[in-house]
Amino acid sequence: MERLQKAIAASGYTSRRKAEDLIRQGRVKVNGEVVSELGFKVKQGDLIMVDDKALEGENKVYYLFYKPQGCICTLSDELGRPTVIDYFNDVSERIYPVGRLDYDTTGVLLMSNDGEFANLMMHPSSHLEKVYEVTITGLVTGETLNKLEKGIYLEGVKTLPCKIRVVGKDVEHKTTMLMIKLVEGKNRQVKKMFESMGHRVKRLHRISVGNIQLKGLRPGEYRRLKPQEVKELKNMALAKKQNYHKK
Ligand code: URA
Repeated sequence: MERLQKAIAASGYTSRRKAEDLIRQGRVKVNGEVVSELGFKVKQGDLIMVDDKALEGENKVYYLFYKPQGCICTLSDELGRPTVIDYFNDVSERIYPVGRLDYDTTGVLLMSNDGEFANLMMHPSSHLEKVYEVTITGLVTGETLNKLEKGIYLEGVKTLPCKIRVVGKDVEHKTTMLMIKLVEGKNRQVKKMFESMGHRVKRLHRISVGNIQLKGLRPGEYRRLKPQEVKELKNMALAKKQNYHKK
């Protein structure tokens, strides 16, 4: 159930404030009856009409968000912590995160209201490449990297092969900075992989998902994805999925 003006705005027809004006002016009908009361609640399946024309479904929208530290990817939190949605005050569509980043992880997060797109991106067989910059405790050995690259068992399931490159070692503070490219996204996967080898992840930042990079955005900022970018993401995921099913 949601308020009528919110449902109208969410369809992309107009802003919430203008939707309130339409309701006050008696131009909105719900299931054939004029509703001029602002608090009126509608549920899924109700037929909303403005000037006797039915509202179209919500426009599909796609965003790239530079997730900052200190916010969660669920839409509400019982601990009252900030959520990624708090950064999207001026977006009326009901968007949600496509996949998850941890509370303290920063970087590329896709947001959309397109369920089909979200499922495709998150499906394990889509094998969409995700690149992370990681700082871990300790000076990592070549042997550890080899094991991680080939795949290790996490909770009984083997991780898929991945690519890791050492970017730098801080011998004084005993930390290593690396880039890791994964084609899967199990819960807390990067942290678990390094933890299983005795290294704690101190900093985790996602640089890219498929063809999408953060270029030009600062933490907490977002931009609409271009139609071409959405198309490329879909094509990449579909191509990988088809290969996967052929095997
Ligand atoms: N892997 C993790 O451990 N955490 C993230 O937020 C993303 C990938």
